[in-house]
Amino acid sequence: MCGIIGYNGNGPAVGILLTGLEKLEYRGYDSAGIAVFQNERPRVVKTEGRLANLREKIGTEEPVNGSVGIGHTRWATHGAPTGANAHPHQSDTGLFTVVHNGIIENYARLREILTDDGYTFTSETDTEVIAHLLEKYYKGDPVQAMVRALPLLEGSFALGILCADFPGKLYGARRSSPLIAGLAEDGSFLASDIAALLQYTNEVYRFDDGELAALGKDSVEFFNSGGEKVQKHKAVVDLSPESVEKGGHEHFMLKEIMEQPEAIRNTLLPYRDKNGKIVIEELALSPADIREINKIFIVACGSAYHAGIVGKYVFEELLRLSVEVDIASEFRYRRPILDEHSLVIIISQSGETADTLAALREAKKRGAKLLSIVNVKGSSIARESDMVLYTKAGAEIAVATTKAYSAQLAMLYVIGAYFAQQLKTVAGQALAELISALAALPETVSRALELSGTVEDIAAAYYTHDHAYYIGRNLDYAAALEASLKLKEISYIHSEAYPAGELKHGTISLIEEGTLVMALCCSSRLLLKTAANIKEVKARGAGVVCVCTPDTQADLEADRVITVPHTHHLIMPSVEVIPMQLFSYYVAKLRNCDIDKPRNLAKSVTVE
Ligand code: F6R
Repeated sequence: MCGIIGYNGNGPAVGILLTGLEKLEYRGYDSAGIAVFQNERPRVVKTEGRLANLREKIGTEEPVNGSVGIGHTRWATHGAPTGANAHPHQSDTGLFTVVHNGIIENYARLREILTDDGYTFTSETDTEVIAHLLEKYYKGDPVQAMVRALPLLEGSFALGILCADFPGKLYGARRSSPLIAGLAEDGSFLASDIAALLQYTNEVYRFDDGELAALGKDSVEFFNSGGEKVQKHKAVVDLSPESVEKGGHEHFMLKEIMEQPEAIRNTLLPYRDKNGKIVIEELALSPADIREINKIFIVACGSAYHAGIVGKYVFEELLRLSVEVDIASEFRYRRPILDEHSLVIIISQSGETADTLAALREAKKRGAKLLSIVNVKGSSIARESDMVLYTKAGAEIAVATTKAYSAQLAMLYVIGAYFAQQLKTVAGQALAELISALAALPETVSRALELSGTVEDIAAAYYTHDHAYYIGRNLDYAAALEASLKLKEISYIHSEAYPAGELKHGTISLIEEGTLVMALCCSSRLLLKTAANIKEVKARGAGVVCVCTPDTQADLEADRVITVPHTHHLIMPSVEVIPMQLFSYYVAKLRNCDIDKPRNLAKSVTVE
């Protein structure tokens, strides 16, 4: 949700800011802007639309010279995505220039107060109040202005700030929205995400909540919310600059789909010992602690929530423990019944999703044990969790997740197998079969990726449809949820996922001649049941594409069949989702959609 970049160095800021914004554009892309100190005054250039529009505007105006500046790419929350609402925003006299990621919840009240004080507003954004407040409380020291102004803000923010009295400095502050600083040979940097900094440095300072910073050309000073200096340590980020490039693929999404065997392999690697047992050293839970757990909650948003649904089926079957899966934005407000015998598993790729973070805090307050599955090291969720298991998907840039979802599934299987091993709820031989299927999963997923050509042909046959229904039972249904989300988010085709047995309780009234039904049929135990549901939709004219395994392909009355390799039934979702991701990708491509940056979306949803 919005990308922030800041640079203070010796090079020309404009190019560095624009390159940084390119790397952050996945976070929001409805308008963009920069401010660069030129002749000791910040010069602002901003415009609605993609970064390309900003580049064009900068190209047609007088050259922007200067080596200190801030930039922003926006995902609108308050006010339409217009040029006036684009960041940066300035205080009345231009003393403060601000870029912001987050939401100021009490901005309406602050705006009234500031208007009464005589400040004028030129945008509909919540951000503008920050610039005015800083000016109001400024007495010659920008850090002290932040110390006085920022506690008045309710909500979340990551800020990049310029103060016209200090053209050699750049300021930053954070509450609940991600922000890092970096120091490289070429100068100092602020950014929402490491992707923007990797070409300069992989060593970063992470802002803790409430911290402020002042960045010089070769210095980064941190302060606590009271303005006292704090010592920070650098963290080394294990990513290469190439990991945030497309690597010859047309889209990040395709690159990331193809990287899934590696993402799964890297995620599984640390957890299997040479005797074929699962070991999880990061887990501070003794076998006795695990035995004391009487209920598991899995809490997440979007695709991570869908991974959680797979987890429910897997855990309930392996552990015979009750598992509830909840959407974080619901969980946080529904006063869930938790105690010290509850284990709450939080899943998040970014580790910054606002609702998921709030759900984690709610669970903590209620005394539950907390275990998070996170892809981004040092993210807010990782830092606030009792125990963290990192998926090793690497940087995921496409807004629609693929490899991070697959890595989350892999991690859930590991946890399920480990708990089953500790609780002895599964016979040794059966557990060994699961663990060896898990070890072979990267290879099985590689074979599923070989179906790319077949899936592209099927996409060509159906890409003009306006509606799609995904059906399946149990784990097939869990995979169908993710398959359906992938299609709708990147191709804008209306799509719904249903338990195959539920369709006839209402939704089947929407099936008519030619309606597309994607039937996931990889569970041999429930094959005949789903086969009957397929017949029901076929009888009403649906065109049916089935995803099945060599064992389940007979008895299916389908127009097109995608046969994926077979593996252990509990981990089939990891395999069947692969052609579904590819299907969505090729359909979106044929519909000329902006695959990596679908409309209205942004990666890392740091607002409620
Ligand atoms: C869909 C997608 C989203 C995310 C969701 C949670 O393709 O990527 O649904 O899964 O916004 O994000 P994280 O995992 O970062 O908490």
